[in-house]
Amino acid sequence: DYMRETSGLYETEEQLGGVLGISKTIIVSGDSDKIPLIKDEIGKACASILEGLLEKKNIITVTGGTTMNSVAEALEHIDVSGKEILFIPARGGVGGKVIHQANSIAETMAENTGSGNRALYMPDVVSDELRSILLKEPSINATLDIICSADIVLHGIGEALKMAERRNTVEKDMDTLIKGKAVGEAFGYYFDDEGSIVHKVSTIGLQLEDLPAIKHIIAVAGGKSKAKAIRAYMKNAPPTSILITDEGAAIEILKGE
Ligand code: BG6
Repeated sequence: DYMRETSGLYETEEQLGGVLGISKTIIVSGDSDKIPLIKDEIGKACASILEGLLEKKNIITVTGGTTMNSVAEALEHIDVSGKEILFIPARGGVGGKVIHQANSIAETMAENTGSGNRALYMPDVVSDELRSILLKEPSINATLDIICSADIVLHGIGEALKMAERRNTVEKDMDTLIKGKAVGEAFGYYFDDEGSIVHKVSTIGLQLEDLPAIKHIIAVAGGKSKAKAIRAYMKNAPPTSILITDEGAAIEILKGE
C-alpha cells in the first residue's frame, strides 16, 4: 500500500526476498531487540496475511515462542466469519515457559478466533526407543496425520544457543551445537551459517522434509540479533515461504550481502 511504498520498505522487502530465496517478505518498522512492542507489530502483520489466506476449512499448525505468542494475540482482531479453523501444534514440547509452548499458543489462537484446537502432549526430547513406541499409538498417529495435512504452518525462528538454553539442552548436545557453530533454529533443527543441520531435537511431529507439502509456510522472526538465524534457516525453507520480520533483522541480513 501507499504508506509502505513511500517509506521505502516495499523495495527492501523485494530485495530481502531475493536474498533469502523466498516468495514474499513483510518488514515492519523498527527493531524488536530494542523495542519489544515491535514484536506485536510482527504479530499483527502475520495475522493480516493469515486472514487473506484462509479458505473455508483450514488446518493451521503452529510452533511456540514469544513471537508466535504475539501472533496469537493479534488473531483476536481478524475476520474469520464463515471460516472453519483447527489449530494444532507442529511438534512435541519444546520446553520454556508454558505460555510460549506450541500447545498453549494453539489454544490461545483457537480462543481468539472462536476455532478448535487439538493438543499434542509430548516431552521435549524423546529417545528413539520411546519415539517408535509412541508412533504405534493410534491417537498419536491420528494427531500426526492432521499435522502433516496442514494447509498452513506458522512458525518462529530462534538464535541457536538461546533456544538450546531455553530447552535446557543436555551438555553433550550443547557441545555439538558449539562445535558445529550453530547460529539458527527452527522446528527443533539447529543450523550453521551455511544452513547445514548441526543437530536436531528428536521429537514427534512436523519434520523439515514435510514442509514442501504444506501450501502456506509463514515464518515470524525479527530483531537484529536474529539476522544470522533467519538466513541460516531460510537456506532450508521451501521457496514459497513467507517471512514476516522487522527492519532490525532485514537491514542486518542485507548488510551481510
Ligand atoms: C520456539 C520454536 O518455540 O520458538 C522455535 O519452536 C523458535 O522453533 C522459537 O525458534 C522462537 O522463539 P521466540 O521467542 O524468539 O519467538
